[in-house]
Amino acid sequence: MKYRIQQNTYRDFAVYEQHRRNPRAYFIPYSDEETLRSTSQRDERYNSDLVKVLSGKWGFKYYPDSRDLPREFDTTTVQFSEVTVPSTWQRKAGGQVEPPVYLNTRYEFENPPPELPELVPCGVYRKTFKLEDIANQTYLLSFLGAAGSLDVYCNGYHVGFSEGAHNTAEFDLTPVVRQGGNELICVVHKWSTGTFLECQDMFRENGIFRDVLLYTLPKVHLNDIWLRPRKTAEGYRLACVVEVCGEQQTGWNVEFGIDELEAKYAAPSKERMTFAINELDVQEWSAEKPVLYTAWVRLKRGSEVSQVVRIPIGFKHIEQRDNLYIFNDQAIKFKGVNHHDTNPKTGWCMTYDDYLQDLQLMKQLNVNAIRTAHYPPDPHLLSLANEMGFYVIDEADIEAHGCHSTHGDYDLISRDKAWIPRFLDRVKRMYFRDRNHVCVAMWSLGNEAGGHHCQDACYAYLHACHPEIPVHYEGVWNHEGVHGYDMYSRMYPSIEEWSRVGACDESIPEKVQKLPGFLCEYTHAMGVGPGSLEDYWQLFYAHDNLMGGCIWEWADHAVEDGGFTSKASNALRYTYGGDHGERIHDGNFCVDGLVYPDRTPHTGAWCMKNVYRTVRASFANNVLTLKNTNYFTNEVCALTWQLLHNGAVAQEGTAQLDIAPQGTQEIKLDLPALADGDYHLSLFYGDDIAFEQITLQEQYIAEELSGNGDLADILATVQPNFTRAPLDNDKYICKDSEDEFDMHVTTEELANGVTRVTAKLVPHKMITEELQIARFGVTLQLPKAWANVKYYGLGERENLPDFTAHAKIGVYETTVDAMHEPYVFPQDNGNHGQVRWLQLTDENGKGLRIVNAPGKLNFSAQRYSQASLTTATHQEDLRDEGLVYLNVDGFVRGIGSASCGPDTLPQYRIDLGNGLEFSFEIAAI
Ligand code: GAL
Repeated sequence: MKYRIQQNTYRDFAVYEQHRRNPRAYFIPYSDEETLRSTSQRDERYNSDLVKVLSGKWGFKYYPDSRDLPREFDTTTVQFSEVTVPSTWQRKAGGQVEPPVYLNTRYEFENPPPELPELVPCGVYRKTFKLEDIANQTYLLSFLGAAGSLDVYCNGYHVGFSEGAHNTAEFDLTPVVRQGGNELICVVHKWSTGTFLECQDMFRENGIFRDVLLYTLPKVHLNDIWLRPRKTAEGYRLACVVEVCGEQQTGWNVEFGIDELEAKYAAPSKERMTFAINELDVQEWSAEKPVLYTAWVRLKRGSEVSQVVRIPIGFKHIEQRDNLYIFNDQAIKFKGVNHHDTNPKTGWCMTYDDYLQDLQLMKQLNVNAIRTAHYPPDPHLLSLANEMGFYVIDEADIEAHGCHSTHGDYDLISRDKAWIPRFLDRVKRMYFRDRNHVCVAMWSLGNEAGGHHCQDACYAYLHACHPEIPVHYEGVWNHEGVHGYDMYSRMYPSIEEWSRVGACDESIPEKVQKLPGFLCEYTHAMGVGPGSLEDYWQLFYAHDNLMGGCIWEWADHAVEDGGFTSKASNALRYTYGGDHGERIHDGNFCVDGLVYPDRTPHTGAWCMKNVYRTVRASFANNVLTLKNTNYFTNEVCALTWQLLHNGAVAQEGTAQLDIAPQGTQEIKLDLPALADGDYHLSLFYGDDIAFEQITLQEQYIAEELSGNGDLADILATVQPNFTRAPLDNDKYICKDSEDEFDMHVTTEELANGVTRVTAKLVPHKMITEELQIARFGVTLQLPKAWANVKYYGLGERENLPDFTAHAKIGVYETTVDAMHEPYVFPQDNGNHGQVRWLQLTDENGKGLRIVNAPGKLNFSAQRYSQASLTTATHQEDLRDEGLVYLNVDGFVRGIGSASCGPDTLPQYRIDLGNGLEFSFEIAAI
């Protein structure tokens, strides 16, 4: 078939809008009641007779330069290869016609907006499908995601154009389809005008990356439905606005009902009609208790049902009271994460099961809020969030960071009113598609796109048509004089700054004091960390106007087995920016998640789990007071408590918790009088909610150490150390501090085969606060076989002074290999703080034991030298040198969120003062 191909030039927005259908709520229609009833909400994944999923095998032809794409395109003369849709060009399923490119804030090209480079690749997709009985049918073609721009052709005709990669694009195919065979051609241009609004921190990918759906609807059909619940003094009111398309002969009726409420209404069909129900007695929806009702709308003539849809509906009420965000009458907290669509094998393509896996894991980790950074997700995510219970900050596909990083002017686009229609288009398409989802707790106008006229227009639009959902946009706060939308939203403020906001300190502008404070991004989870998560939560809990926030970010972005690595030597499992021969890239800044690319949790995820826990305890006079931080549900779970004496369980018990929302429950513990030594109380909530530990008494009892052998060889390897293989969050560490001080280690043999090791750091002159070191300690080299580790200290997972919420004091047994955290970008790891003693032994129990005297130590035991951990850029680079490196530190620094946000707080830094000194005893065992 022959096509006249459109050129990828600047498209007049009005023209482009003409061809695309108005955005509408995403829903799956059925032709009859029976299929609707037999399909549960949960597996309602297009298994409807009215929706054909065109995903699967498509023909594909890639043009490295779209100027080589013939204007007169004859599909009978083109050799198409085969790809899977959905997929992206940079990943295997999409033919991998281009290497992956990871960029943070820059555009891939330097042309000023809206100019495009001369050379823009494109891909042509071809799909054939058969249709029967096309008379009296309407055919709607829906793309849930295509990047960058999309021209749709069918049976020789140009059907329409779309940009806005993560927005649903819908086209009416009715005028061009035929009985029998049909040919669909999609030309996807890598870059378009829209690319200037898609400069997010991620792998930049292209292709048809979400499902393509073909709706077959009767000529007269339900086009759109808006379920709009609102709370009144008498209860909930619900407006169900139905839009019926097609010539409506007489006799058509629309019925609307809610199963659980046995409510049912009917009216003669009109193009736009509203069913209004008042005084509904319903249970409200919340992330804690996601109560959904089943609304349905049916289009009928006589007894014949022509179409029926089901829409899960929830009831919620959001309002601002003073400077509080009130959800169902409560000033709730968002225990959130930022979620990007990223799969190590398929890139931007995430299946329903991928989302399910993410959301299940988030639940397990006590997350209750998701910011869909930085674009609307596939609708599957929202359906799951409705059912499973998550507050969603639904974000428009708008980021123009390159205006700043490539062109030096953040507001280059956002202040240009000519761009308003394009901004608005993205916001509208998000809004119209997602407005029925009860999980949407805030609209977001996008990320880092400046903040000016274009955002003001979007805010005004959303506020006018949907005032019941607040609008967030962080970028507006960088622009003087613009009103701030519905919340004071920031990313990565320091605890000091945010505590002033919490306290409405007079240093905070008045307009800010009047708004709820929300952190769309805080604590950067890159590498080991994030630090100070608990410190932020102490602050959020202290102020009702601080709503919490979303940790940056959920998952590491990486390419798994990509086959594009520029490293010849090793086959790398995971690659990141720069591994694919990119002209420009931003390195490993994309591997900054709480979970690995395959969703194995990092230590940071376990830390979040405990910080986001629902129960928080305090202890005084043998009474444990447990607070339920939920707002809507009782916390009902078993509590197991353990009293530890010097790390060993001395007493334990259980109790049943049933705590009212925001309430407390007291439990008297019959504890013995405390003797000498350390006492800790460990509390475990439920099977798997979280744990916490309360220190009752800290008292060091010197251990009588005795040795049975000679450690001379090992002691000869002792080296002082003030560096660690840089953590991503070690940005504030001075690299060249060595000239500022001297370090000495002395060893002194004691009785009974015991040696005391003393390490000193002596400054040459007064040391300034700016001089920051990561640690001060010693490193010893041990035989490879001494790989069994036992210690008394903070474990079992790695920890640092501001990164401890996931760790508790105890006696742990592990191995050197198990202590290694395989961060995609290697760095020092496996530190354990507050250690009183440790030992490393071989299989026969031969090895060494270290006891502190009298402070507490940190240690890590690694297969890899610090040099190897420093130079390696991937796990595969790490070399096992046949040794165990044992780092014993008297001082270790915290991390904060320094890779993107604030440094660690002063109390977690190493104060060099007049010098540092610590010592420990070591003996062979
Ligand atoms: C933020 C941005 C995110 C991400 C993060 C750093 O400024 O909004 O998209 O780039 O920094 O990882």
